[in-house]
Amino acid sequence: MDKVKERKNNIGSLFDNIAKHYDLLNHLLSLNIDKIWRRKAIKNLSTTKENLLDIATGTCDFALEKIKQDKAKNITGIDLSKEMLAVGKQKVEKANLSSRITLQQEDCTNLSFPDESFDALTCAFGVRNFNNLDKGLEEMFRVLKPKSEIVILEFSYPKNVIIRFFYNFYFTCILPLIGKLISKDKSAYTYLPKSVKGFIWGEAFLSHLTKVGFSNTEYKTLTFGIATIYKAVKE
Ligand SMILES: C[S@@+](CC[C@H](N)C(=O)[O-])C[C@H]1O[C@@H](n2cnc3c(N)ncnc32)[C@H](O)[C@@H]1O
Repeated sequence: MDKVKERKNNIGSLFDNIAKHYDLLNHLLSLNIDKIWRRKAIKNLSTTKENLLDIATGTCDFALEKIKQDKAKNITGIDLSKEMLAVGKQKVEKANLSSRITLQQEDCTNLSFPDESFDALTCAFGVRNFNNLDKGLEEMFRVLKPKSEIVILEFSYPKNVIIRFFYNFYFTCILPLIGKLISKDKSAYTYLPKSVKGFIWGEAFLSHLTKVGFSNTEYKTLTFGIATIYKAVKE
């Protein structure tokens, strides 16, 4: 089994190990651009949703931003990692939002919710970590009500060769070094570039959304294609 696949089979513990440093490293390593990406992605939700499911919610930045932008009345955030959720819970409590954001430890490829439970679904930087992408997307489709929308934000890969050169240098040389220094986890930040390179983006990702039943699929690239916002609806 290759290393990335092996890590994906154990992804909960990878994120458990780095949970305490995750936010700091996220903002530091992306020079805070991750905040702009999340903000832009959420703007794609058309209206305020009654019950929104945030998949791979992690430390809850994506969920909190949705409340800030008034895009959801109630949010259920799920994640495999207990420690990421623990950090998220503290942030939700600090923001006085425990009555509106509920957190649950769940595997996206096997959700406990009944069919057609939610009006919308979001997922930031989660899908590339699923050990079974199509199963995760099928579950997303199943728990959504008809006429609901999804917004997915994920890393992609720049097309321009010059940008790609600097991106590769940063992602494979600088980022793992800083990640290791701060998180003290040797391998988590070498997994990150490998998981991005080994993942699909653009039309290839849209084809998986279509395969599981979503329609009106579209995508927008951000910052030279380093990240991409995907949108789709369940008719
Ligand atoms: C890079 S973090 C993203 C967290 C957050 N959404 C954000 O924007 O910062 C990826 C998260 O996906 C979670 N994850 C990976 N596979 C999952 C699965 N099958 N089900 C639920 N969560 C999963 C990990 O535990 C981790 O917290």
